[in-house]
Amino acid sequence: MQADKIIGILGAIPQEVNGIITQLKNRSEHKIGNRTYYQGYINDQKVVVVYSRIGKVAAAATVATLLLEFKVDSIAFIGVAGGIHADVKVGDVVVAKNLVQYDMDASPLRPKFEIPLLGKTYFDTDESWSKETCDHIEEMFGLENLYQLITPSELAKFNITTPKVHYGTIASGDQFFSTSTQKNNLKAQLPEVLCVEMEGAAVAQVCYEFGVPFIVIRTISDNANEEASFSFQSFVEEVSLVYGQEIINKMF
Ligand code: ADE
Repeated sequence: MQADKIIGILGAIPQEVNGIITQLKNRSEHKIGNRTYYQGYINDQKVVVVYSRIGKVAAAATVATLLLEFKVDSIAFIGVAGGIHADVKVGDVVVAKNLVQYDMDASPLRPKFEIPLLGKTYFDTDESWSKETCDHIEEMFGLENLYQLITPSELAKFNITTPKVHYGTIASGDQFFSTSTQKNNLKAQLPEVLCVEMEGAAVAQVCYEFGVPFIVIRTISDNANEEASFSFQSFVEEVSLVYGQEIINKMF
C-alpha cells in the first residue's frame, strides 16, 4: 500500500476493530452521524478506523462517510461470519473474491439477487490486494506463528486445529443465521457461497459505485446454525480480535 493514500478500515462491532484502534499512532477521534472515526497511523500507513454497527444500512452509511468526509482511497472490512460451505470451518478465514446480497429480490421485475437499476448481482473485490491478504493469512496460520497469537487451549476450545484461508463468494443480508433452515435455503439458492454475514455486500456496492478498491476479510465464528449465537460471542472476544490485529499489521 502507498503511504500517501488513506485506507478506511471498518468492522461491524467494537470487538472487531478495538484491537486495531488501540495500536494507532497519532490517534484523533471524530464523531459524525452517531459513529466515532479514529484517524491515525499503522506503521507509516494513514488509516481511519470505525465500527459501523450491524447490518447493510449501517455499513453503507459508514462507507459513504469514510469516502466523502475522510476521503479514503480504499476500504478494508474485517470481521466474523457464519460458515456455509462444508469446507469452511470455525477458525478459518474467508477473503472475498466477490459478494452478493442474498436478501435482494425485485423479481419479477429483475432476476432475484440483482441490484435494480445497477444490473449487477456480484461485486468483485480488488484481486491483487485480496490475494496478498490471503498470503499474509497463510503465513499467520503457520503453526508456530499461530501458537504465538492464541494459546493451544483456546484453539482447542473452538476445535481449531489447522485453520485454512479460502478465497471465494460471501453472501450478505440483514439476518443473523441461527437455524439450519436458513443455512440450507441459502445453500440451495447460491451454492457457491462460502460464508454469510450482514455487511460485506453493502460495503461492496458502495465501493463499486464510487469506483474505490476494497477487500472483505471474515473469520468464521460459527456454523450459521442452532449453535451460532453461543459460539459467536466467545469467539469474537477470544479469537477474531487477535486475528484481526495481526492481519492488519501484516498488511502495512
Ligand atoms: N456473522 C457471524 N455469524 C453470523 C451468522 N451466523 N449469521 C449472520 N452473520 C454472522
